[in-house]
Amino acid sequence: MNWFDTKFYHILYKNRDHKEAELFIENLIDKLKIKKNSKVLDLACGRGRHSIFLNKKGMIVSGFDSSENNILEAKKNNTKNLKFFKKEMDKSYNDSFDVVFNLFTSFGYIDHNYNTKVFQRISESLNINGLLVLDFLNILHVKKNIVKEEIKKVDNITFNIKRFIKNQILYKKIDFTYHKNEYSFKESVMCLELKNFKDYLKELPLEIIEIFGNYNLEKFHLDSERLIMVIKKSQP
Ligand SMILES: C[S@@+](CC[C@H](N)C(=O)[O-])C[C@H]1O[C@@H](n2cnc3c(N)ncnc32)[C@H](O)[C@@H]1O
Repeated sequence: MNWFDTKFYHILYKNRDHKEAELFIENLIDKLKIKKNSKVLDLACGRGRHSIFLNKKGMIVSGFDSSENNILEAKKNNTKNLKFFKKEMDKSYNDSFDVVFNLFTSFGYIDHNYNTKVFQRISESLNINGLLVLDFLNILHVKKNIVKEEIKKVDNITFNIKRFIKNQILYKKIDFTYHKNEYSFKESVMCLELKNFKDYLKELPLEIIEIFGNYNLEKFHLDSERLIMVIKKSQP
């Protein structure tokens, strides 16, 4: 089973909760002056923690995720203006949006071709002057501060975590025992830097207009924890 489809992912990342999502979204709405009634997409929405709050703030929200279990869970929150769909992010979105959010390192899982396709899909679905907010890890910070081995106990599960970088891919190996069964999962994400993102955007009517370094939206610098890009769609 895919790691993101398991309940263990949500246990390990328990701290990545609604409170964190709400603070981040509140800050983004304020800073980017996102209007009520905007039509927004939460791309790779997980169980919908950001989507749910965006909807509470008056937006018309679609959430896409490739994980069946996440979408089933998210759908419990469906309202007239909050809908979730099982969808791969490189497939046509068949809709248009004022803002697309891709949050908490939900990008760069496959390869450069796939990433290019995703940007094309986003670009064709954004309205002119629409925004993409892409929240990725700052790989420079990760490389400098990588914790190679860690033991994390959450909800009585002891997760043994190993992190390493090989061929420009950041791996996180997660081993644990649960009800006497042994489990082993791997997360992997491409080591993408700002320059890689700029390359993806070159041929598209998309331009980075602002970069933040954390969820409080402080300015990005080389040692920031996050690389949060605000990207604007111009007239093609
Ligand atoms: C790190 S989680 C973040 C989820 C959510 N954005 C959040 O902050 O809670 C990444 C999500 O991306 C989804 N995902 C991975 N590959 C995908 C793809 N190709 N298309 C759509 N969603 C994908 C996973 O199922 C997972 O829910």
